[in-house]
Amino acid sequence: MYSRALVFMILSSFSALLAAEGLYLQTLKQTEPTEEQLQKSLKTVDEYKKIERRGELEVPPFHKRTAEDDSLGNSFCTTCHLSPPHTKSVRSRTFMNMHTQYIACETCHFRPENVPLNYQWQDTRDGSVVAASTGLFRQTIKLDKKDKAAILAAEKPKNTFLKITPYYQQQAVNLRKDSEFSKQTKAIWQQAKKTPEKVERRALIHAPLTEKGPNCQACHIDKEALLDLAILGADKYQAAKIQNNIVTQFFGRYKEEDQKIRIIDLLK
Ligand code: HEC
Ligand code: HEC
Ligand code: HEC
Repeated sequence: MYSRALVFMILSSFSALLAAEGLYLQTLKQTEPTEEQLQKSLKTVDEYKKIERRGELEVPPFHKRTAEDDSLGNSFCTTCHLSPPHTKSVRSRTFMNMHTQYIACETCHFRPENVPLNYQWQDTRDGSVVAASTGLFRQTIKLDKKDKAAILAAEKPKNTFLKITPYYQQQAVNLRKDSEFSKQTKAIWQQAKKTPEKVERRALIHAPLTEKGPNCQACHIDKEALLDLAILGADKYQAAKIQNNIVTQFFGRYKEEDQKIRIIDLLK
C-alpha cells in the first residue's frame, strides 16, 4: 500500500515537472548542437553588435522602422532579437513583422517533424489560453451596413498580446521570458564578447528552430493548412478571405530570392 502511494507520488510529481516545461525547452534539453551549428554561432555572435548598429544608422527616409512592439516582450526570443525581429528580407519583412502581432514566433520557427502540434490563441501576458472567437481576427466578418454596433466592434483595435501559439499535449510549446532558462540565457548573453558559453547557448537555442518560416501558402490555402482557422474561431467568411488572399498569391510567384515581379506580370 505504502510503496504504491509513494510510487504514485513520485510519478505524479515527475509528470508535473514535465508539464511545467513546454516542448521547446524539453527539446533543448535533449539537443546537442552540431559542430557546424557551433561554427555558425561563433560567426553570428561575432557579428551581432555590428548588425544592431547598422540598423540604427541606415534608416531609409520613407521606410522608418516600425515602433518597438511591446506585445513581444514576454517572448523568450526577444531576449536578443529586436521587436519586431525581421530586418533582412526587404521583400517580406514588413509582412512577417505584421504577423508577429498575432502569431507567436514558435508557430513559424518551431515545427518539428512528426510531432502533432495544435494551435490556440494565447494571452502572452500570463500564458493563459483564450477561447476561440471570430472577434480575435483582424479579418472582419461580413458586415451588415446597418449594424452599427457590429461595425464599431470590427473597427476596435485588436489586442496584440493575444497570439496564435503552438500547443503539444495541451501544453504551450513556447518558453516565456520569466522562465529560469530565459533568465540564465540573458545573463550568458550579456557576458563580454564571444565566450564559448555564449556561442554554445546561441547554437543550442537555434538548433531545433527553422531558419526560414513557412511560405505564405502554408497558411493561406484551404487544404492541409498549418493552421485550422475554424478551430481558432474564424467563421467561413473570414477563413475564405484569409485563404484566398491576393498578396500571398503574389508572393507564391516568387521562385528565387532576388527575383522581381511587376504588377503587369500578374495579368499573364
Ligand atoms: C541568446 C540570444 C538569442 C535568443 C534568445 C534567440 N536568438 Fe535567434 N538569433 C540570435 C542571433 C545573434 C542571431 C544571428 C543574427 C540574426 O540573424 O539576427 C539569431 C538568428 C536567428 C534566426 C536566423 C537564422 C539563424 O539560425 O541564424 C532565426 C530564424 C532566429 N534567430 C529565431 C529565433 C527565435 C524564434 C527565438 C526564440 C525561440 C530566438 N531566435 C532566440 C540570438 C538569439
Ligand atoms: C508568420 C510567420 C513568422 C512569424 C510569426 C515569425 N517569423 Fe521570423 N521568419 C519568417 C520567415 C518567412 C522568415 C524568412 C525571411 C523573411 O521572409 O523575412 C523569417 C526569418 C527570421 C529571421 C532571420 C531573418 C531576419 O530578418 O533577421 C529571424 C531572426 C526571425 N525570423 C526571428 C523571428 C522572431 C524572433 C519571431 C517572433 C517575435 C518571428 N521571427 C516570428 C516567418 C515568421
Ligand atoms: C503561420 C501562418 C501564416 C503564414 C506563414 C503567413 N500568414 Fe498571413 N496571415 C495568417 C493569419 C492567421 C492571418 C489572419 C490574421 C487576422 O485576421 O487576424 C493572416 C493575414 C495576412 C494578411 C492580411 C489579410 C487581410 O485581408 O486582412 C496578409 C496581407 C498576409 N497575411 C500576407 C502574408 C504573406 C505575404 C505571407 C508570406 C510572406 C504570409 N501572410 C504568411 C497566417 C499566416
